[in-house]
Amino acid sequence: MKPEIIITARGHAGTMATLQNEFTAHLLSDAPDRNAFLKQHAAAVRGLATFGPMAVDGKLMDALPRLEIISNFGVGVDAINLEDAKKRKIIVTNTPDVLNEAVADTAIALVLNTVRKFPQSEVYLRGGNWASRGPYPLTVDIGGKILGVLGLGRIGEAIAKRAQACGMKIRYHNRNRKDVAYPYDPDPATLAKNSDVLIVVTPATAETARIINAKVLDALGPEGYLVNIARGSVVDEPVLLRYLQEKKIAGAGLDVFADEPRVPPEFFSLDNAVLFPHVGSATVETRKAMGDLQIENLRRHFAGKPVLTRVA
Ligand code: 8YV
Repeated sequence: MKPEIIITARGHAGTMATLQNEFTAHLLSDAPDRNAFLKQHAAAVRGLATFGPMAVDGKLMDALPRLEIISNFGVGVDAINLEDAKKRKIIVTNTPDVLNEAVADTAIALVLNTVRKFPQSEVYLRGGNWASRGPYPLTVDIGGKILGVLGLGRIGEAIAKRAQACGMKIRYHNRNRKDVAYPYDPDPATLAKNSDVLIVVTPATAETARIINAKVLDALGPEGYLVNIARGSVVDEPVLLRYLQEKKIAGAGLDVFADEPRVPPEFFSLDNAVLFPHVGSATVETRKAMGDLQIENLRRHFAGKPVLTRVA
């Protein structure tokens, strides 16, 4: 008998196919009546495979009384209420490490694109402006500038390595000070004040919600750039929008937004923002590796073995 699981939403196609093959899988996001769907499967479902931002809270867990494991596709588990899972002794797993390099590549691309305005310069060319109006305006170097890393975890370290190869100097703030050579700043505002480019890599938690606020952006200042590859919730988005419109910071590079995939259209007309549609880990190889790890955690759990990457 194959273990029964619920897949919360449509995700990576290859991973979905394997999940549907190895388990008796039911897709929640396609159900016309969510409550009826949960009731129908409550007696049999022992696992959840989660994709995307759909909230997995105590209410959903209570609707599935036999639930033993929640296996998330992605390193960020902010959509899952870990306390609620712990209380119910439900295991939660994620997919760390396998995405570090792809996400760090995206991060350094976003730093370069934001500071050097490469996407805007391409739009300029495609609009026929080069011949009619002359060269694209000068930007500034990233070499010699200071990159402040907010959240020096495994992804933050991979970003720092790339930034150093581009001649940047690194500083950081982290909940816990780390045994690294980079200078440490005691809080996000001090890090912002000491940085030319502030990059946000911190997990989204109750403590980090809107940690990038007016105070931090003021500290970053009119010459400073913000790059966010973490979660939209760590930035006060309306404040950031206003700071960009009023040029109170030099620019922002954003791979994540507060209410994805809906991006406030006011961002679209900004010349000082570079916007990516949450592509941090979006490569064929990395998404496959994330899916393999998500599936392996489920496989191991149902085979009575310890899971590989437990977060709660
Ligand atoms: C994915 C991510 O885009 O790992 C994460 O936390 O944000 C990304 O790698 C996302 O998990 C896909 O659903």
